[in-house]
Amino acid sequence: MTDNETGSRAVAVGVLKGGFAKTTTAINLARELSYRNESALVVDLDDNGHMTQNLGFTEAYESGTNHVFDVLLDEADPREVIVNVVDGLDLFPAHRDLEDVQTQLKNAMGGSTRLNARVIEPLLGDEYDYVVVDCPANQGKLNENALYATNNLIIPVRPETGYDSGIHNTVNRLVKEARQYFELDILAVVPSGLSQRLDQDRRDRALLEEINSMEIADSVVPNFCRLTADDWAAIDEGRYDDPLPGIRHRSAIDDANDAGLPLREYDAGCDQLSCYDELARIVERGRVVRDESGEEVAP
Ligand SMILES: Nc1ncnc2c1ncn2[C@@H]1O[C@H](COP(=O)(O)OP(=O)(O)O)[C@@H](O)[C@H]1O
Ligand SMILES: [Mg+2]
Repeated sequence: MTDNETGSRAVAVGVLKGGFAKTTTAINLARELSYRNESALVVDLDDNGHMTQNLGFTEAYESGTNHVFDVLLDEADPREVIVNVVDGLDLFPAHRDLEDVQTQLKNAMGGSTRLNARVIEPLLGDEYDYVVVDCPANQGKLNENALYATNNLIIPVRPETGYDSGIHNTVNRLVKEARQYFELDILAVVPSGLSQRLDQDRRDRALLEEINSMEIADSVVPNFCRLTADDWAAIDEGRYDDPLPGIRHRSAIDDANDAGLPLREYDAGCDQLSCYDELARIVERGRVVRDESGEEVAP
C-alpha cells in the first residue's frame, strides 16, 4: 500500500498491450530506484516471464515447483524465492505456470489481495523502500493483484499501431474499474522507443500529441516528454533545441535486455538513462514535479 510523499512506495508498470515496453521500463526504473536508494525489488508477474528469463533466471521460471503459487496461495516466504540481479536490485521471479496461479486466485479467499498480503506488505518499507511490478498484458487476477498491492500505475507506450487503443483500454477498463474498489494513481504515462522526426506527420508525433493533450497530462506526463504549445511551434519552425522528448529508441536499451542487464550496467553512458532516473524520482515523490517554467525541480 502507498505511504505519503517521502515514504516507501510500490508501483505497477502496466498496459493492456504486449510489446509496449513494460518489461524494459520496469527493469530500468527498478534499477534506478535501487541506484538512488540502495535497494529495490522488482516483481515479474507476467506469465511470459520475459524479465525473469532475460535476467538469466530461466531455472526458477521453468522449475517443477511453482514458487509463485507457493507464496501467493500457500505459506511460502517470499524471501526464499527472491534472487539478486545486481548490487541492490532483487527480483521476485515469474513462473511459467502463472496462468495456473491466476486460475487458483479466482477461487481463493481475498484472491485479489494476495500479492499485497504475502509480498508487498511484509517487504515494503522493511526490506525494500521501493517495489516495481511488471504486469501481464491481459486483464485478470494477476493484474488486479498488482494494482491492488501498489495503488500506483505507470503506463508505458510505444509508437506501434494501436497505441491509442492501448492507452484508452488501460485507462477505461483497468484504471476506472479498479477505482470503483480501491485507490489507484496513474503516476506517469511514458512513451518509449521513439525514433521518428517530430516536424513531420508521423506516428511518434501523433503519440506525443495524444499524451500531451490528455486531460490529466499535466500530472502524468514526465518532464522528459512534456511539450507545450510553444514547444510544438518551435518544433514546426525548426528551432526546438531541447533533447528530443520521450524515451528515444536506442540499441543500447534493446541490447541491454538481450544481455540480461539493466541499462545502467550495460551502458551507463546512454543518454536515455536520465529518463529512467526521472521516473525513479516520480516514484519516490509519488508524482511528477514541475516548477513554474515547467522545468524539473530538484528533489
Ligand atoms: N527505448 C527503447 N529503445 C530500444 N528498444 C526498446 C526501447 N523500449 C523498449 N524496447 C524494446 O521493445 C521491445 C518490447 O519491449 P518490452 O519491454 O519487452 O515490452 P512488453 O514488456 O510491454 O512486452 C523489446 O525488444 C525492447 O527491448
Ligand atoms: Mg514484458
